[in-house]
Amino acid sequence: MIKGKVVVVGVTGGIAAYKSAELVRALVKRGAEVYCVMTASACQFITPLTLRTLSGNPVYTKMFDEPRVWDVEHVGLADKADLIVVAPATANILAKAACGIADDFLSTTILATNSPVLFAPAMNVNMLNNRVTQDNIKRLEGFGHHVMATGHGDLACGYQGEGRLADIEEIMFAIEELLAGDKPLQGYKVLITAGPTQEPLDPVRYLTNHSSGKMGYSLARCAQLMGAEVTLVCGPIDLNVPKGIKRVDVQTAEEMYQAVLTVFTECDVVIKAAAVADYRPKQKNENKIKKQNSDIYLELARNKDILAELGKIKEDRVLVGFAAETEDVVANASEKIKRKNLDFIVANDLLQEGAGFKHDTNTVSLVFPNATVKRLPQMSKDAVAVEIWQNIIKIIKMRGSVG
Ligand code: CTP
Repeated sequence: MIKGKVVVVGVTGGIAAYKSAELVRALVKRGAEVYCVMTASACQFITPLTLRTLSGNPVYTKMFDEPRVWDVEHVGLADKADLIVVAPATANILAKAACGIADDFLSTTILATNSPVLFAPAMNVNMLNNRVTQDNIKRLEGFGHHVMATGHGDLACGYQGEGRLADIEEIMFAIEELLAGDKPLQGYKVLITAGPTQEPLDPVRYLTNHSSGKMGYSLARCAQLMGAEVTLVCGPIDLNVPKGIKRVDVQTAEEMYQAVLTVFTECDVVIKAAAVADYRPKQKNENKIKKQNSDIYLELARNKDILAELGKIKEDRVLVGFAAETEDVVANASEKIKRKNLDFIVANDLLQEGAGFKHDTNTVSLVFPNATVKRLPQMSKDAVAVEIWQNIIKIIKMRGSVG
């Protein structure tokens, strides 16, 4: 959603200015074309060189510099921007933007743009709570601008309270929302499973796999941005789920089965991206298993195949699975489509470079019940998620149940 978008990052003069470097880095990493505009005060806190290096583009600091291209540059940038984000935004820039003051490059660009503007304020708690600032925030929102909430905690001025810059991850979530555009999944309820399961052996050990949950997370986030109501049932994963996604944490395959069944009936689409353990230790020891002088043997019991169980009660829901394979990828995936009654399967060749667990990229093929195979090149997991959702939307439309 961010890839290829032009994002102007406005930086104003507060101690949190150093965090703008992290924001620029995150945007560039996600494929945005980033241009930074710094106020004179911001340049007291960090140097334009830092942001120029991270963004790979010139940094705008002065209104009347020699233009780098023949264009009225602040207007050019205001037109070019898909979004302007001001982070950190001081009380001063909020006040200027709320009153239409345009006396430097940043305030002029804000006034000249028709694109969304997002402010991430950071300031002393008393300045933030001052009625003037609060009125300015309301005015900005009244003009259609977006102002993020600040974080709570220790402030650089020695005070405690509201006024910290929102987390970079939160700012990135807000940027994604604003750039998302169409909402083809509005009104749809979707269930996604993600991550590994853990099957306890004793109080300190368990059987698991390398799944990081990143693919399921990308699918959940993409669905949310497309307007769906999302439930994410996940095994133990180390990812922050954006606000608005209902997260249900489970540990074992049995717990995942129960959690999935609870929400399944009210869902329109289910994607099972979780790497569910097929087996669990037959016996869970109450106490830690002690070392023996000889080898020990584990007896394993079969877990339910959650997806196959859902396939039996699917009705007109769209049901999509993943197939983690290391050989005969398409043939094995096709067999799983039939056995589990799926609309399509995302086949993952785990032996390919940049595919499968832990990576931010994936190389997959979409395999359909009529044996057609759509091979995708190596892509970010976010881009794979968009492809998967586009194919699901096609299926929903064909069934005539999408608005
Ligand atoms: N799956 C499931 N419950 C299980 C095992 C798998 O719901 N107990 C789901 C996975 O979430 C995935 C799909 O089934 O969407 C395929 O998982 P995979 O591990 O590739 O296949 P298996 O059916 O377990 O077969 P095998 O391990 O023999 O390849």
